[in-house]
Amino acid sequence: MAKGQILITGGTGYIGSHAAIELIQAGYKVKILDNLYNSKITVLDQIEKITGVRPEFYEVDIRDAVELAKVFEKNSFDTVMHFAGLKAVGESVKQPLRYYENNVGGTINLLECMEEYGVDNIVFSSSATVYGDQGEKKCSEEMETGRGLTNPYGRTKYMIEEILKDTAVANPKFRAVILRYFNPIGAHQSGLLGENPNDKPNNLMPFIMKVATGEIPELTVFGNDYDTKDGTCRRDYIHVVDLAKGHVAAVEKIDEGEQVKVYNLGSGEGTSVLEMVKAFSEASGKALPHKIVGRRAGDLAVICADPGKAERELGWKVELSIAEAMQDTLRYLGMEVEG
Ligand code: NAD
Ligand code: UFG
Repeated sequence: MAKGQILITGGTGYIGSHAAIELIQAGYKVKILDNLYNSKITVLDQIEKITGVRPEFYEVDIRDAVELAKVFEKNSFDTVMHFAGLKAVGESVKQPLRYYENNVGGTINLLECMEEYGVDNIVFSSSATVYGDQGEKKCSEEMETGRGLTNPYGRTKYMIEEILKDTAVANPKFRAVILRYFNPIGAHQSGLLGENPNDKPNNLMPFIMKVATGEIPELTVFGNDYDTKDGTCRRDYIHVVDLAKGHVAAVEKIDEGEQVKVYNLGSGEGTSVLEMVKAFSEASGKALPHKIVGRRAGDLAVICADPGKAERELGWKVELSIAEAMQDTLRYLGMEVEG
């Protein structure tokens, strides 16, 4: 597809900001929309330092149909990359309506706006969570989704995927690429941009970062009695820059093949929590204090991607290692890199 104009919702967030950089560097014109609920406006300065381009920014909530329409009125976007959403699994169990309203309601608003202004292409941030429990099997795109989901966050991702498929049936010009992310980690190689949530962290890497900076004394490892090599859960961690590059590959192929295409973005390799602790310690040259506690409710032993379809159809695969992700995280924290 020609290098068009892309609206990035959630573009000051962790993944959206890295995608903005890769898109700008690939020659796309990018504009960012975010309500800054979980990100900071200073991210724009960092994008500018890295790329030399400061994307136009709209502080707008996707639930606000009137303000959203004004953004579409002023621009002629070719594609929307839709990252905006709430993502804390535990919080979604306690506040389900807020999650449905923000993630599902916000997406419906966005799709209505796209329809009204004739924007037919969307790339959507979905999640491996839609696969539910597939046991030891690697998740591949043709597997059933939506069954046995344990939380409202995961259900919002599943519902949005279905909404996109229905929208495509109703509008033959509509095209969607659904990207199912596995576990994004790491930071930009420049050390200028990384994961810096306003909210309390939930995921493993932000906790590791807080232990490294001394904000919390030790990492709690949730369970070592799983049926895995070292008893801790295994996940498919992917460097955020690789993930961001997957978005460039997706937009370049959006015009080809089926109207709605689904791809896993993962490495195909599982890494345990203790292996992650070791990788961070090797990169920093210092031990990372940690203790084993009980299992976290809802955690599955293993979640791992079959990334073959993305490689075959998008020509994309993971290039960066976990060691590199750890080194980039240290650079982002302003700490020394040893290994
Ligand atoms: P993030 O919180 O860093 O970024 C999301 C951005 O969306 C934030 O800047 C936030 O302020 C914004 N936002 C939220 N609600 C909004 C609204 N109503 N209007 C406008 N802006 C809004 O999260 P992230 O890790 O960059 O995740 C991006 C997307 O990828 C999310 O949809 C998330 O569910 C999905 N995802 C993330 C992971 C992960 O582990 N990080 C895994 C799978 C899928
Ligand atoms: N973990 C710890 N201690 C912590 C935090 C996490 O041991 O302080 C463990 C978890 O138990 C799990 C692993 O680290 O075994 C990874 O946990 P994360 O919370 O980082 O990631 P999850 O795999 O649970 O979930 C993430 C996102 C979801 C997304 C899913 C896709 O949070 O939104 O990846 O696989 F759906």
